[in-house]
Amino acid sequence: MNQQLGDRLRFLRAFAANPRQVGAILPTSRAAVRDMLDLGDVPGAGLVVELGAGTGVQTGEVLARMRPDARLVALEIDPGLARLLEDRYDDPRLQVVCDSAENLQEHLDGEQADVLVCALPFTSLEPGLRKRILESLPRALAPRGVALVIQYSPLIQSELRRLFPSVRRRISVMNVPPAFLFACSVETETA
Ligand SMILES: C[S@@+](CC[C@H](N)C(=O)[O-])C[C@H]1O[C@@H](n2cnc3c(N)ncnc32)[C@H](O)[C@@H]1O
Repeated sequence: MNQQLGDRLRFLRAFAANPRQVGAILPTSRAAVRDMLDLGDVPGAGLVVELGAGTGVQTGEVLARMRPDARLVALEIDPGLARLLEDRYDDPRLQVVCDSAENLQEHLDGEQADVLVCALPFTSLEPGLRKRILESLPRALAPRGVALVIQYSPLIQSELRRLFPSVRRRISVMNVPPAFLFACSVETETA
């Protein structure tokens, strides 16, 4: 079985076990991952953080774009998926953390992310958890950092606009379903 098919089956199994936590039946397409990462400066980042890494579609592309001396901290709450990521990417720049994104600060040693990649299924998460995670995102970002958020609906757009002075939006049509991409900054572009 090829890797893509194997990943789709693993993802589907994770969804069947925990639909609200996984929030999608398929991993994000490569095209949507590229569209998403093109909205931020991954090659210029010292620290990249990933929330909800899944089977690693963003993880692999972030590692391919990252500098040799940069670091990627990838959080994934599902132990099976976290193990898959650890086994798949033998890269000293990557730290896989099996924990909830709401505990992100505990894993950053006081550092802030230059790029934060987030594929959490906000619309299906329990509202209290969604609020805690969303409100922690600006604090996790460096002053000139950017949070790249992928969603399957525009529902959290107003919440992102409340939390971030600058939010750019794009739609990636090469995904099932089409994906809403948000690039959120704590500084306005003219600042
Ligand atoms: C929609 S999937 C995205 C997976 C992958 N990044 C992609 O784009 O294909 C959401 C992922 O977030 C993970 N997740 C859900 N809640 C989480 C939480 N509180 N903390 C960390 N990961 C979480 C799920 O287990 C799942 O792997």
